[in-house]
Amino acid sequence: MGLQMLLFQFMLLITTAASQSLPGCPSKCGAIDIPYPFGIGEGCFRENFKVTCNETFNPPKPFISTGNLDFTKISIQDGLMYMTQFVAYDCYNKSGWYMGNVPSINLPDHTYTFSNTRNVLTAMGCDTVAYITGPGEGGFSTGCVSVCNNVSVLTSGSCSGMGCCQTSIPEGVKWYKAHLQSFQNHSNVLNFNPCSYAFLVEKDWFTFNGASDLGGRRFVDAHEQVPLVLDWAIGEQTCEEAMGNTISMEFACRSNNSDCYDSSNGPGYRCNCSKGYTGNPYLVDGCQDIDECSDPSICKGVCRNTQGSFVCECPRGKHSDDPKMYDCVKKQFPVLRVALVISIPFASVLAGLLFCFGLQRRKIHRLREKLFRQHGGLLLEREISSHPGIAFKIFTKEDLERATSNFDKDQVLGEGGQGMVYKGVLSDRRVVAVKKSMVVTAMQNQQFGNEMLILSQVNHKNVVKLLGCCLEVEIPMLVYEFIPNGTLFQLIHGGRRLTLKARLRIASETACAIAYLHSEASPPIIHGDVKSLNILLDDNYTAKVSDFGASKLTPMDKDMFATFMQGTWGYLDPECLLTGILTEKSDVYSFGVVLVELLTRRKAVLIDGPEKDRNLSNLFVSSMKEDRLMDVLDRDIVDEGRMDLLREVSLLAKRCLNVQGEERPTMKEVAAELEGLAVTEVHPWVVNNPEETENLINKSSDSGAGGSTGFFSLEKRAMLSIEVGR
Ligand SMILES: *[C@@H]1O[C@H](CO)[C@@H](O)[C@H](O)[C@H]1NC(C)=O
Ligand SMILES: *[C@@H]1O[C@H](CO)[C@@H](O)[C@H](O)[C@H]1NC(C)=O
Ligand SMILES: *[C@@H]1O[C@H](CO)[C@@H](O)[C@H](O)[C@H]1NC(C)=O
Ligand SMILES: *[C@@H]1O[C@H](CO)[C@@H](O)[C@H](O)[C@H]1NC(C)=O
Ligand SMILES: *[C@@H]1O[C@H](CO)[C@@H](O)[C@H](O)[C@H]1NC(C)=O
Ligand SMILES: *[C@@H]1O[C@H](CO)[C@@H](O)[C@H](O)[C@H]1NC(C)=O
Repeated sequence: MGLQMLLFQFMLLITTAASQSLPGCPSKCGAIDIPYPFGIGEGCFRENFKVTCNETFNPPKPFISTGNLDFTKISIQDGLMYMTQFVAYDCYNKSGWYMGNVPSINLPDHTYTFSNTRNVLTAMGCDTVAYITGPGEGGFSTGCVSVCNNVSVLTSGSCSGMGCCQTSIPEGVKWYKAHLQSFQNHSNVLNFNPCSYAFLVEKDWFTFNGASDLGGRRFVDAHEQVPLVLDWAIGEQTCEEAMGNTISMEFACRSNNSDCYDSSNGPGYRCNCSKGYTGNPYLVDGCQDIDECSDPSICKGVCRNTQGSFVCECPRGKHSDDPKMYDCVKKQFPVLRVALVISIPFASVLAGLLFCFGLQRRKIHRLREKLFRQHGGLLLEREISSHPGIAFKIFTKEDLERATSNFDKDQVLGEGGQGMVYKGVLSDRRVVAVKKSMVVTAMQNQQFGNEMLILSQVNHKNVVKLLGCCLEVEIPMLVYEFIPNGTLFQLIHGGRRLTLKARLRIASETACAIAYLHSEASPPIIHGDVKSLNILLDDNYTAKVSDFGASKLTPMDKDMFATFMQGTWGYLDPECLLTGILTEKSDVYSFGVVLVELLTRRKAVLIDGPEKDRNLSNLFVSSMKEDRLMDVLDRDIVDEGRMDLLREVSLLAKRCLNVQGEERPTMKEVAAELEGLAVTEVHPWVVNNPEETENLINKSSDSGAGGSTGFFSLEKRAMLSIEVGR
């Protein structure tokens, strides 16, 4: 009996030590460890960390909660869960599309998130547009384009738009669906590439193998599923908030000698064992001291383990300058020893300290200077000093850190596929928006500073002013004037009532601004990313176009094209998708989508619609063709009763959305036409609710009628010519 008891306790010890699950709970499902807070069965898991082990599989398979998502590994240390998921593919033969798969994943509750640092969206194919949609502002979507016309030009290992493309996903994504499209049904590439593939995949797992991945159905036959990494976190609180709960046993970092840290991908926190300890921080006593001395290379003298650390000394009678590094030797003559002990370490430490400190500072300084030069800072500085009228400033990194409280989360104004925008207050009290881009492309562009200068000279009442930039960082940051009333996207898709007149005014103002960039700015500027999220509204709900010239910041050769695509789905000019060349007419197309958004109050990418209606512009154009315009227009403006006006604006939008760029009107024509439509009198008897319209309508009459202040009489300030910086 006694022996049995002992054996039982011994077993328990073994299981808890090795498996890290709660005592008495199953530690594995098949061969897969299930450490606490995960667990199988009642009382074995923390809330939201339930695992179901399905024994009908051989070997048994663990599933998240009671759902159908199975996983292959849990990492307590990194807060990760590894799983596999299906590849999205579309295959074509001579008669067109013949098979495919559109997988999607929906992660349960707030516990799991797709890791944005460990996964990349990857697509392969020679006639391939891949994108994923999910929740979030703008119907979170990101994607890339992969093309090639000859497999012999493909390079294995390079995934940058030729046969293979990759793009990162934003933080906090909890569900997604992978979509594929093609330009020409693979008809031109059928011989060597009949299928397109797309998948979110563990970054380190995937390497592009060139032509061999593209032939036949080889890839999907070999890899029906690919590995994927999830982040998991406890609850929705930060460490600080959760720590208040220690008494109620809610706080998850149970072990002594454990630390708490906030999740970097969405809400919640995680725990890890403190330095010198290892194990499972979520279990009482889960973090055990590491016996550092078991590694003989750690100490040349006598090693003694302590809680959380160790002591390394020479045995009595022997000496070493550093017993962790150097063997212990017989003691030297006492005087010499004193001298050694006191003077050498002291002097060398001091010298070392001074040296390193100086070196470190110089190194940082040198790096900054290098970046500054790389981004064309010197040229820019010279230009600014030789044009005293220029109100453009080169900010230091510290300036912007101070202005935004070190890029505090509370200062975030917006977040997109391309970067973060922070609100900041400069030392002269001016309120600004600081754009910190995430597009990590080779931006070692001498012209960058120069282009900034040109953009800063853009001066139009409907364009957000660029005030300056910071060049001494890896990816330059831009400083814009702050526009207080949010984006057009928020206005359209918020619940607020919006009259037709107000919508036309905003459209007209936007069109004016883009027309100005195209034809009045010198050199002409292609906006490159026109969408409702990039149109801001000021105190009076006047439209202000922002983020213009974004395309200039990214190289536009075909290889790099993929990176540019982010966050712009639904607004993209199909012709540009085919050719990879951005033109003024691409802006016209994107503007057409914004116009349709204003008319229909629908988002540019309709996530839940049937496949063919996903794209707002397709939906709109086809409903016009089929004479179903009334079905898609926003009821509110239909009820205003101005069908004649609506039809005219719709026709204009349709012309903007022409697949052939050449057939689209110029932005100047669009602006002129909209300006005309915006001032068309709405007869008083059709306005349903005069009070509600007051703000937006009043505004519209002065901007609309004020043709003199409109597009055709722009104040042209001292524009820099292209020769700048030669
Ligand atoms: C285990 O998996 C099988 C096959 O998918 C399924 O039919 C069964 O319902 C599952 N059992 C449990 C307990 O979930
Ligand atoms: C294309 O594939 C479909 C489905 O497998 C098949 O029915 C059809 O005959 C194929 N067409 C050609 C031209 O191979
Ligand atoms: C592909 O490129 C190689 C080398 O550039 C060339 O020899 C070959 O003819 C090309 N094949 C096709 C189908 O264009
Ligand atoms: C692609 O195939 C579909 C169906 O076969 C066809 O309607 C469409 O015109 C084709 N598109 C191209 C670009 O070949
Ligand atoms: C954890 O630390 C506290 C305070 O230092 C101590 O009172 C307690 O006994 C420790 N618990 C264990 C299990 O070591
Ligand atoms: C605990 O996690 C934090 C955040 O990831 C990390 O900085 C720290 O080094 C970790 N501590 C240990 C002992 O691994």
